[in-house]
Amino acid sequence: MDFSIKAFDTKNTIASAKAGVVAVAVFENKKLSQAAKALDGSGEISAALKSGDITGKAGTTLLLRGVQGVAAERVLLVGLGNEEAVSEKSFASGVSAAIKAFGALGASDAIIALPMTEVKERDVNWAIRCVVQTGHETVFRTDGQKSKKDPAPAGVKKVALAVPSTTETKLALAQAVAIANGMDLTKELGNLSANICTPTYLANTAKKLGKDYKFDVEVLDRKQLEALKMNSFLSVTNGSEQPPKFIIIKHMGGKAKDAPVVLVGKGITFDTGGISLKAGPGMDEMKYDMGGAASVLGTMRAIGEMNLKLNVIGVIASCENMPSGRATKPGDIVSSMNGLTIEILNTDAEGRLVLCDALTYAERFNPAVVLDVATLTGACIVALGHHKSGLFTRDDDVHNALADEIMAAGKAAGDTAWRLPIGEEYNEQLKSNFADLANIGSPGGASCTAAAFLENFTRKYTWAHLDIAGTAWKSGGAKGATGRPVPLLSNFLINRA
Ligand code: BES
Ligand code: MN
Ligand code: ZN
Repeated sequence: MDFSIKAFDTKNTIASAKAGVVAVAVFENKKLSQAAKALDGSGEISAALKSGDITGKAGTTLLLRGVQGVAAERVLLVGLGNEEAVSEKSFASGVSAAIKAFGALGASDAIIALPMTEVKERDVNWAIRCVVQTGHETVFRTDGQKSKKDPAPAGVKKVALAVPSTTETKLALAQAVAIANGMDLTKELGNLSANICTPTYLANTAKKLGKDYKFDVEVLDRKQLEALKMNSFLSVTNGSEQPPKFIIIKHMGGKAKDAPVVLVGKGITFDTGGISLKAGPGMDEMKYDMGGAASVLGTMRAIGEMNLKLNVIGVIASCENMPSGRATKPGDIVSSMNGLTIEILNTDAEGRLVLCDALTYAERFNPAVVLDVATLTGACIVALGHHKSGLFTRDDDVHNALADEIMAAGKAAGDTAWRLPIGEEYNEQLKSNFADLANIGSPGGASCTAAAFLENFTRKYTWAHLDIAGTAWKSGGAKGATGRPVPLLSNFLINRA
């Protein structure tokens, strides 16, 4: 779907705009939006409301053809609920209904003339992103691995947004499209089966992004990881036939001397649990255990397309977690890159083992801030469900401000995170009789002990951790990657640029 901006004024009116369909809002109290009034010269829209053909409830639609005095072939009335206060929810459901309706039409282009500047507590940027993301969501298909492709989405291909054409709205549209494209990449990578989406595949994807957006991309192989003493990361890959890859991807859009933001992604392309083998049912979903890495790549794509004026470095630790005769065993002790020794009591707590070395590696960039992103713990789903990502930082002024900054970026992007605690009590739970740290905590607060484990490796810089176990993909009939937290991360970076 292609998006553009179309501004209207007294000369260039909505009524005279040629298009397959123009969508305008109506409300529950039988009132018409400004744009609907402008198309109601013949009274057909008021009549439709009066007769009850459309109630105006949020998400309802009614299609009128050949409305007198309107150049567009069709008018789509879209209910937005309460006129006094167009809520975020009713606007989003109206947009979704409109875009669905577009798919059933024999029209190729549409104008969306919904009240984009009147959504409660939201600005026009948000409304533009809402339309673009909903459009992408509706036409997104993962059929690359089907022999018969899903039918190409019918209907509208071009959507013009009726908003004033300003520097602000043009920028908002460009950002919205870049974020949606980044989410599409993240979803594609997540949905790909793990026999295709290997660490090597992720590395090749990073190299391709490097070509497309002039990123500097470096991929480290086993030998180089051994030389760096990343023995914690390497312990996870022991049982796998697939070579591990450590990917560094740089967008240096800021001033050369500016400290970069570093995004660190967990890239377990399949998590069997290793010798601490997971149960069978639903294990296929552990192909999504590279969701952190995929969101780092999607975010890099988004900021590359925006050409964001900020230094951003993506770091991805990628391997498989497999059982075998060579696999790491419960009780094995390894020495991590920063020197701390780790007793691996459970090989299924592998995410922290790959991340800790990646977090140590990040020190070399003298980062302004490091944000790691990982499908880290099932316990995070217990705590927060599938609505919000878990957010962890230290509890001091700098980090409390960072947590607020991240939560605000997520909220504005419609991709929310919620803060959970770390601290000394949780570190206590990670004590080992035989090593500096155990890789699992005593029972209780498994998301917090996982984050507390990571904190040990981040003391040289400002840091936050996002646990996306509940938000990176959906299970059940609608199984599929969500593209989260690309909107949160992109928005965070936009705000910092
Ligand atoms: N990748 C999983 C976490 C996960 C599980 C995410 C289910 C989404 C859905 C992670 O590697 C893992 O296995 N974590 C263990 C940790 C435990 C052994 C302390 C978990 O959550 O059970
Ligand atoms: Mn695991
Ligand atoms: Zn995992």
